[in-house]
Amino acid sequence: MDKKKNISMAVIKRLPKYHRYLSDLMRNDVDRISSKELSETIGFTASQIRQDLNCFGDFGQQGYGYNVSELYNQIRNILGLSKTYKMTIIGAGNIGQALANYTRFEKLGLELKVIFDINPKLIGIKIRDIEIKDIDYLSDYLKENTIDIGIICVPDNNAQKVCDVLIKNGVKGIWNFAPVDLVAPENVKVENVHLSDSLLTLTCLLNDIE
Ligand code: NAI
Repeated sequence: MDKKKNISMAVIKRLPKYHRYLSDLMRNDVDRISSKELSETIGFTASQIRQDLNCFGDFGQQGYGYNVSELYNQIRNILGLSKTYKMTIIGAGNIGQALANYTRFEKLGLELKVIFDINPKLIGIKIRDIEIKDIDYLSDYLKENTIDIGIICVPDNNAQKVCDVLIKNGVKGIWNFAPVDLVAPENVKVENVHLSDSLLTLTCLLNDIE
């Protein structure tokens, strides 16, 4: 999988969409699909699809198209979904609780192990059997338990502090919902979900007239 290092971010960003559409095709018992048909379903051009998938090896066959389950499994592997991940949510407010209540991540092998918060009123409460623990216990917890992904759902002024504790204790993936650009070393991967940025993109598009 060395090749992956040279794959552009644009291609990586398209992979989850391939994964989603291919799993729908599998559910509908579709065995094979041409790049043209896939293009009509997924909305990328056929040549874009061929180019994207060629980055990872020789998937399609001339005149046959793609074997859906084979392609799905390859994309799963490329997305790192052949292994499982342990996650923690920091900040059990509106967003943290919504994410904790979402059950689909588990189906992908992303398991929420524990939640942390600073508010004494929340500590001890369980969301779907997952306990909200005191943030003061975060370092100790991470020393005793492996966590792959830390999900930051605290106010922006506390996000970097929380991020630093996660990184210091070996967490290599940060999924950040706070509207702040976190500082992290290169070996730590940060994926931001800046909801306001996304919404403002929409307001801009709505006003992109003539
Ligand atoms: P919230 O105020 O409902 O929840 C934040 C939680 O973090 C609270 O339970 C609080 O006790 C906890 N907390 C604060 N400092 C902490 C610390 N140092 N350690 C552990 N826990 C701590 O906030 P909400 O709405 O869930 O938002 C979370 C983040 O997402 C914020 O950064 C916010 O700006 C961002 N966001 C939220 C949106 C929304 O629709 N709720 C929209 C866009 C961004």
